[in-house]
Amino acid sequence: MKFFVDTADVAEIKDLAASGLLDGVTTNPSLIMKAGRPMLEVIKEICAIVPGPVSAETVATDHKTMLEEGRKLAKLAKNVAVKVPLTPDGLKTCKALRAEGNMVNVTLCFSAGQALLAAKADASFISPFVGRIDDNGHDGMALIAEIMTIYRQYPHFKTEVLVASIRHTQHIIQAAKLGAHVVTAPPGALRGLFKHVLTDNGLKAFLDDWKKTGQSIL
Ligand code: G3P
Repeated sequence: MKFFVDTADVAEIKDLAASGLLDGVTTNPSLIMKAGRPMLEVIKEICAIVPGPVSAETVATDHKTMLEEGRKLAKLAKNVAVKVPLTPDGLKTCKALRAEGNMVNVTLCFSAGQALLAAKADASFISPFVGRIDDNGHDGMALIAEIMTIYRQYPHFKTEVLVASIRHTQHIIQAAKLGAHVVTAPPGALRGLFKHVLTDNGLKAFLDDWKKTGQSIL
């Protein structure tokens, strides 16, 4: 399973990349707003830190302008994955950008039917938003299970399921159990994977005993 981080915060990305657990990055217009920096500059910087796919989202809603935006974003670096919304214009743009050799992440997916359309449009990634589905009283992970079942029926589908809108560490574990190809999680949810009280307690006990030996390794 690949781990992407869902942020445009360069300091966070550098820190996570240093631990070797980062396979890519996703951003969106809200995350760019939060970062408070010019989008094109931030995306270029992130692409130089993480060699894997870095999603940069278009903001036009019509195919022609979206395609122009997508081409401009794709030119920023080889590892840009252009993000387009799951609309008819978005999927037209997806198809065109893929034909030109670019990676495309189709975002704002909330149903299995939409995921099927994205695979037909040759998306590199489909991003179902599990947290927002949960927030609305439904079961986000049930959608991931449904999409995985459908995609497995058609081995020629090359689209990877990128579980997005992750709210907590358990979402990551659940997505892994379902065999999702990628999760994109906020930094806190990824860091949550490290945490276990028995690791902390065990380390403390070992270090306390070590101190009692009076030895040093270096
Ligand atoms: O980047 C897309 C997605 O991960 C957004 O998540 O937390 O805004 O629902 P969220």
